Amino acid sequence: RSVISIGIIGFGTVGTGTARLLLQNSNLIKKRTGIDFVLKKIADLDIKKDRGIKIPEGILTTDAAELINDPDIDIVVELIGGIHPAKDFILQAIRNKKHVVTANKALLATKGNEIFEEADKNGVEIGFEASVAGGIPIIKVLREGLVANNIIAVYGIINGTSNYILTKMTDEKVEFADALKEAQRLGYAEADPTFDIEGIDSAHKLTILSSLSYGIPLMYDEVYKEGITKITSQDIEFASELGYKIKLLAITKLSDGGVEMRVHPTMVPNEYLISKVDGVFNAVYVEGDAVGATMYYGRGAGDMPTGSAVVADIVDIGKKIDKRQETEGRRQTADNRQHRTEFK
Ligand code: NDP
Ligand code: HSE
Repeated sequence: RSVISIGIIGFGTVGTGTARLLLQNSNLIKKRTGIDFVLKKIADLDIKKDRGIKIPEGILTTDAAELINDPDIDIVVELIGGIHPAKDFILQAIRNKKHVVTANKALLATKGNEIFEEADKNGVEIGFEASVAGGIPIIKVLREGLVANNIIAVYGIINGTSNYILTKMTDEKVEFADALKEAQRLGYAEADPTFDIEGIDSAHKLTILSSLSYGIPLMYDEVYKEGITKITSQDIEFASELGYKIKLLAITKLSDGGVEMRVHPTMVPNEYLISKVDGVFNAVYVEGDAVGATMYYGRGAGDMPTGSAVVADIVDIGKKIDKRQETEGRRQTADNRQHRTEFK
């Protein structure tokens, strides 16, 4: 039976959800995989703050390097967000031959080409399911479930905060600023919430979806982006009178031999499925040439939904490590047998 050791950097909203899930469901995961996933260390700048969960004694540190350089840690989980020092932590972990899991779409969309290249060079995996659409396993869908398809189009609501704000403004006539404050309080918003409301976070996620769908490099700078800050209550009322809802959509599709990538508020007819996606929920519509239209729905932000995606990556990578070790073990046994035969 294998043991996989995990180190988490960043004990905020997602870090706490991930730790809680790993600790609470460790028996379930072990039963399903035969692998013991052990949370060995958590690094955060503030290790005194009560995060509302009971963690094993002695695993907290303020020094991320402690777990990046720990030879016993197999998977480093980066959950601090931003570019610096997250990028350096990830690159150092990769160079130390550690697998990495991250929810950091801002980093992947802008520096991902370099990070994935370094990971390939070092033979390690990067898991990033949590970077797009929170708990919805959309990365797995594109990489595995729809692998046989040419992707025709991907449309989605992929920012929980802006959808939460638009829903509150539409259904409860709440002011924009109050709805944003509530989204921040619930842990949905980015550290800099202009990323959510100006379409930047959706554009980061769309860059990742587009790269996976069309096999192109990550090209964040090519995404057209417009957020929801100019949407007024009056716009929402007029749209409603005409039978529409205003949603912040992210769209990527093939057009004129190229790939289109855009994020902007859109008037969606009330009868469309996507107009019924409210609050923190996200939905992604993917059209493939074989499968036709498909749609994926779930919570797009928050501690536990995002933790669910992070742990899914940890388990996937853990299974690969386990398989490699098993194959290596079998190879060594065969080599030993061969050696003994030759010796006789
Ligand atoms: P938080 O701000 O809640 O958590 C980040 C934590 O990392 C904070 O406790 C922060 O401490 C700590 N931190 C910052 N710098 C360091 C450092 N150098 N060493 C150790 N710890 C550090 O963010 P979230 O959990 O919301 O987000 C984390 C990542 O997940 C981001 O990339 C975000 O985009 C992504 N994400 C978030 C989702 C959500 O619903 N919140 C959903 C999907 C992805 P301090 O507060 O003192 O700075
Ligand atoms: N701030 C992001 C959102 C978090 O609201 O969707 C999830 O990626």
